[in-house]
Amino acid sequence: MNPAWTIENFLEVRNNQLYINGALAIDLANEFDTPLFVFSEARIRHNIERLKRAESVIDCPLKICYAAKANSNMAILRAVKDAGSDLEVNSGGELFKALKIGFKPEQIIFNGTSKTETELEEAINAGIYAINADSFYEIELIETVAKKLKKRADVSLRLVPEIESDTLHGLQTALLTSKFGMMPDEALTAFRRWQPDDEFLNLCGIHLHIGSQNPKAASYAEALKLLFENLREIDKIGHKLSHLNLGGGFPVNYLRDKSHEQQFSDDQRELFSATLEPFDVLREAWQIVVKTAAAQNATHLLENIELLLEPGRSVIADAGICLTSVRNRKERPLQKSGVESGEWREKAEDSPLSTLHSPLSTDVWLLTDAGFNLLLSMETYKWYYHLISAGRAGEAHDAPYKLAGPLCDGGDVYFDIDGQNRLPDYRLLPENVQPNEVLALLNCGAYSIAQMFQYNGRQLPAIVLLKEDGAIELIRKRDSYEDLLINDVW
Ligand SMILES: Cc1ncc(COP(=O)(O)O)c(C=O)c1O
Repeated sequence: MNPAWTIENFLEVRNNQLYINGALAIDLANEFDTPLFVFSEARIRHNIERLKRAESVIDCPLKICYAAKANSNMAILRAVKDAGSDLEVNSGGELFKALKIGFKPEQIIFNGTSKTETELEEAINAGIYAINADSFYEIELIETVAKKLKKRADVSLRLVPEIESDTLHGLQTALLTSKFGMMPDEALTAFRRWQPDDEFLNLCGIHLHIGSQNPKAASYAEALKLLFENLREIDKIGHKLSHLNLGGGFPVNYLRDKSHEQQFSDDQRELFSATLEPFDVLREAWQIVVKTAAAQNATHLLENIELLLEPGRSVIADAGICLTSVRNRKERPLQKSGVESGEWREKAEDSPLSTLHSPLSTDVWLLTDAGFNLLLSMETYKWYYHLISAGRAGEAHDAPYKLAGPLCDGGDVYFDIDGQNRLPDYRLLPENVQPNEVLALLNCGAYSIAQMFQYNGRQLPAIVLLKEDGAIELIRKRDSYEDLLINDVW
């Protein structure tokens, strides 16, 4: 039987080996060395098409704007563009990359809490679809810049509507306690101040983003309803908006393989195994809004509106795999005192994991070449990436190991040193893993290479893209030692 993490025509086991889109993972590791990120062009297209299907259940055009923050490697941006997506950027740098790779201005929206005058100038000069203003102050700044350029800026207002999602606290973005957006009342004041005939500002939309990895469809329905209620108020002021922007946040199921499931707290398990079908989510949310609109005799407001989404994770997370080598191995006496392993072992004795081969008298530590320098979320949010052996992918993964990265920090580990059970204490791999064995971390495409850094003088890794025509394209060279010096002046 295929392991639960396999995906037909994408992640497969043949002859005990991991294949990614038909490419043998071990060959990729041998050719390009590790750590190595491997992306699938076909999976990116598949994910974008899955989002686009939702257009058929709403009565207006759906504009998918991939959130470049999740991964803005140039070849990834090109793959996203070729798959038919538009783009959300979060800085002048991302805007620069977007235009350079060939996104048209009308395909681009610009978010961010701290935009500079220069960035606004660039966005207005380019004539992008909308700048999402984060505060009243920022609207005034956009007006100043537009006046200076003698141009009219298209602006959408980001609302902070007090919608709670069941995601991690640090990923919540629609609460007043978060740093984002403006209160709906402030936005209404702005719509009163800048009328539709304003010479420099075209306030053309409203935006919100409830957070990332949202496990519940109801949060989206609540968010869309709130956008509609604001649309009504804005209409009374005399503005006809061109779009409503529902943000990103569709979850990815990081726990398709449930072998580590018992090592998670209930909340973490629910979060990491969330699955929402955009088609179903939008259908439910749209129906609620249509009902509300009908009850208020306001269905005409939904005519000539475009609905925007800003998905990042759901486009790129499962399209990326990180291949990492075991570089060191050690054995330590079993941790008896700590909550961490002790509690887990007690639980494990009553569970199917009690059939583990290891005698559990020692901890076997494996030290890899991929730490939080490449997967920052593993440290900041205790994010879970399922781990398998690339060369023994079909074998039973039932031997427990303590896994850690290469950095000089005690926190550079694949478990939760705070003992809060946010990550499994032990990773299950085949028996007798030794140095040089190649492992694969799955679902690593989002918020990984976009956040990587050269801490400890570690070179940033190579990245390959498996093209739909079968070609293997190097889309980022591994840093050389010289690259570590590139901007230092001495
Ligand atoms: C404003 C905005 N839009 C879209 C996204 C993308 O979210 P996700 O990657 O969860 O789809 C983010 C990231 O949190 C964001 O801040």
